[in-house]
Amino acid sequence: MQTHQYLLPSPFYIDTVLPMLEVNIHSDPHIIEYLGIKALRSTHPGVRRLKRQQQGHSAHGNKVWRSSFVLMDYLTTYPPEHNSSVLDIGCGWGLSGVFLAKHYAAKVTGIDIDQSVAPYFALQAEVNQAVMDFKARSFESFSAAELAEFSMIIGADICFWDEMTTPLFELIGLALEAGVERIIIADPGRPPFWELVDLCAKTHDAEVVTRRIDHPWNTEKYILIIDQT
Ligand SMILES: C[S@@+](CC[C@H](N)C(=O)[O-])C[C@H]1O[C@@H](n2cnc3c(N)ncnc32)[C@H](O)[C@@H]1O
Repeated sequence: MQTHQYLLPSPFYIDTVLPMLEVNIHSDPHIIEYLGIKALRSTHPGVRRLKRQQQGHSAHGNKVWRSSFVLMDYLTTYPPEHNSSVLDIGCGWGLSGVFLAKHYAAKVTGIDIDQSVAPYFALQAEVNQAVMDFKARSFESFSAAELAEFSMIIGADICFWDEMTTPLFELIGLALEAGVERIIIADPGRPPFWELVDLCAKTHDAEVVTRRIDHPWNTEKYILIIDQT
């Protein structure tokens, strides 16, 4: 008679060795775990349910974009102060805001021109037990008085059409005048983003850094930083 012997991993291997290898045998295949945050994959049952109920998105708010992972990684090195008020512009499903709310107790407001991202934003916040606000607003619609309520503005992959450069540049100018201390925008490096970088470099004390991560993908993005602190 043929017998099979199955070797189970020891508790030490599960608790100590696997975390060091960044492998989680209990992980949900519909979720990407990154820096202690759960990012929804498009295969997630809740996401699939929402997609069945909706028509689609008007401006690419159809998933969590890789620039937001690189932005989170950058923020581990240059975190905000605890309890900061943060505006996440073009937030989509809100991953970077979840990260700041969870790890730095940030009071995050995510805004997006596309109302249809709201239930994905809510689902991702719920999966992470994060508390955040969402408003269906365009970044063009903010007044200086509204911007003055935030100490930091973040954005990931929000400068992808030529016509976005000018409104984003104007928003940045207005925010700096209103006293916003830090503006951080991550991008894959499309031409409208570089145009925004050029404008900001001429007018504000702006810099761009390259940031690479090797997990969950090996990817490199660019980060525009204006820091008035
Ligand atoms: C490529 S997605 C990035 C989403 C998210 N930041 C991320 O990294 O996963 C771009 C987002 O910007 C939003 N958006 C585009 N134009 C906008 C505008 N004028 N004001 C606010 N949001 C805008 C889109 O609806 C979309 O959700």
